[in-house]
Amino acid sequence: MPTYIVLLGPPGVGKGTQAKIIAERLSLPHVSSGDLFRENIKNGTPLGQLAQSFINKGELVPDDVTIGMIRERLSRPDCAGGALLDGFPRTTFQAEALDALLAEFGGQVDYVPYITASEETLVERLSGRWTCRAQGHVFHEKHNPPRQPGVCDFDGSELYQRDDDRAETVVRRIQVYFQQTEPLIAYYRARGRLHEIDGAQPIEKVTADLLAVLGR
Ligand code: AP5
Ligand code: MG
Repeated sequence: MPTYIVLLGPPGVGKGTQAKIIAERLSLPHVSSGDLFRENIKNGTPLGQLAQSFINKGELVPDDVTIGMIRERLSRPDCAGGALLDGFPRTTFQAEALDALLAEFGGQVDYVPYITASEETLVERLSGRWTCRAQGHVFHEKHNPPRQPGVCDFDGSELYQRDDDRAETVVRRIQVYFQQTEPLIAYYRARGRLHEIDGAQPIEKVTADLLAVLGR
């Protein structure tokens, strides 16, 4: 049976940071909706052009477009054993669509680690974040600096600051999270899948708590 893990939590809480580590440990592909959108934007695809207008405002990309993109990604051979989802689902409609999709694959959402931190921590993390162009590795100028400023430790590509990490967009992203994504906490709790994790701890401690929840 494939294993599907959904990392849930607000913008900047550390989903991407943890997903890179956990995916490697568990040999599962890291499926990040945000990274997939950014890849499409970089390549100038029609999907990327559409997504960009929403992302730059801090709004969610429409459900049908997002679900279609994830369906395509999860259908690829490397996801046959499951996947670690980061940033999807983000609405109740997406969560229901994911349940239906995984049922087609003979699977289900097995674990939903829900990572939390205060709003102040989120804003501070996003304002100091540097992201790698090639593969989306993330660094923080204070908490997790790269060995050489502006260069990714893992693949040597350029580090940049995301357009949607501007202060006014961050405020909107956090609002959107509370309005549209927070209901998923109840959704997965009711299904016995939710595991709360304190994301305000150091990166290594969050990883240890995640691995414990996943029984590894
Ligand atoms: P997405 O790319 O998913 O962004 P997000 O959910 O807002 O989350 P972030 O990537 O900003 O934060 P993160 O939790 O991954 O934190 P990170 O590990 O980088 O989505 C972007 C946009 O795409 C959305 O706004 C939307 O428009 C669209 N979109 C995506 N999915 C969608 C969907 N399903 N439906 C519709 N639209 C969708 O860490 C942040 C910083 O903190 C880093 O600098 C890191 O080094 C640092 N850090 C991490 N952990 C720690 C720690 N424990 N201690 C100290 N520092 C830490
Ligand atoms: Mg991320």
